[in-house]
Amino acid sequence: MKRVLSGIKPSSDVLHLGHYFGAIKQWLTLQEKNECFFAVVDLHALTTPQEPKQLQKNITNLVKTYLASGLNPQKVVIFKQSEIAEHTQLFWVLTTITKVSELFLMTQYKDKVQKEGQKSALAGLLNYPILMAADILLYDAQLVPVGEDQIQHLELTREIARRFNQRFGETFVLPQPLVEKVGARIMALDDPTKKMSKSDKNPFSFIALTDKPELIKTKIKKAVTDSENRIKYDPIKKPGISNLLTIMSLVTRIPLKSLEKKYQETGYALFKEDLAEAIIKFLSPFQTKYNQISSSQIEKVLSEGRKKAKTIAQKKIQLVYQKIGLR
Ligand code: TYM
Repeated sequence: MKRVLSGIKPSSDVLHLGHYFGAIKQWLTLQEKNECFFAVVDLHALTTPQEPKQLQKNITNLVKTYLASGLNPQKVVIFKQSEIAEHTQLFWVLTTITKVSELFLMTQYKDKVQKEGQKSALAGLLNYPILMAADILLYDAQLVPVGEDQIQHLELTREIARRFNQRFGETFVLPQPLVEKVGARIMALDDPTKKMSKSDKNPFSFIALTDKPELIKTKIKKAVTDSENRIKYDPIKKPGISNLLTIMSLVTRIPLKSLEKKYQETGYALFKEDLAEAIIKFLSPFQTKYNQISSSQIEKVLSEGRKKAKTIAQKKIQLVYQKIGLR
């Protein structure tokens, strides 16, 4: 049995297929045999501007998504990051052993600066990976199931933990990232060279887990492919159709090779029709459950989660304070 921790930012009202296949799918398997902590990382959401009322809704919807996906609160701890103050306490300690030069190397920060310029980049965004390190190290997590875009943050987390242990004695566990072979990077439907993202302004770039059947059909129909009309998995030369094949393989559990064979005589239009149907069928049980979850259920889950997370976090921060000379 291993200790597992992961989290998702409530920075939009619903999640998309990338979140599900990059992160949540792994969580569902891991919850059976491990001690799992799944956070709603609401403090991380603040690194992009959030309207307060909407943020509250997003937090509720994210817990709903966790439950409707099949996370079992009898088996896992679901909690809100901002309710455990130890995350920010440990964050501060870790900022004092992390180099600014290390933060400047983070792709997420570099991308933002490239798009919007350094002048408007927020200190919160630069420090974001240190708070993520605190989330993980506070719970002695051994495994961190995430999508591919988070690997760099995990490497920094390991480096910070190593540095702390060297200086103050063995304190933190070095966490391992867990990344799926297929699904670690689902690409945007309108531009398969960039990852599917909830911050994308074009709603046709992603499939939200709560999208209605008609909308799913339209989105898949509009998805960018190429002019070859030949169904083949080749992410370099044919990124659009390869992304759609990946999604098809994930929702149907049919291997990519078998899909290529099945659709070798078929053009894109028919494949897209089948894909839309397969996504609709895949999401249907999720959507039914999602609509049945009550606010009292959510409150109960968060309140139980808070107690369990707090007990562990408190002990750990006391140990850290003692090691560095604050106790
Ligand atoms: P976030 O909220 O951006 O994304 C949540 C999870 O979904 C994965 N993901 C994807 N996977 C495949 N294809 C995509 N298109 C795609 N889009 C998102 C992400 O890799 C991630 O696993 N920094 C984290 C949140 C975080 C965290 C943590 C994670 C904060 N503290 C501690 C793990 C442990 C983030 O921004 O994820």
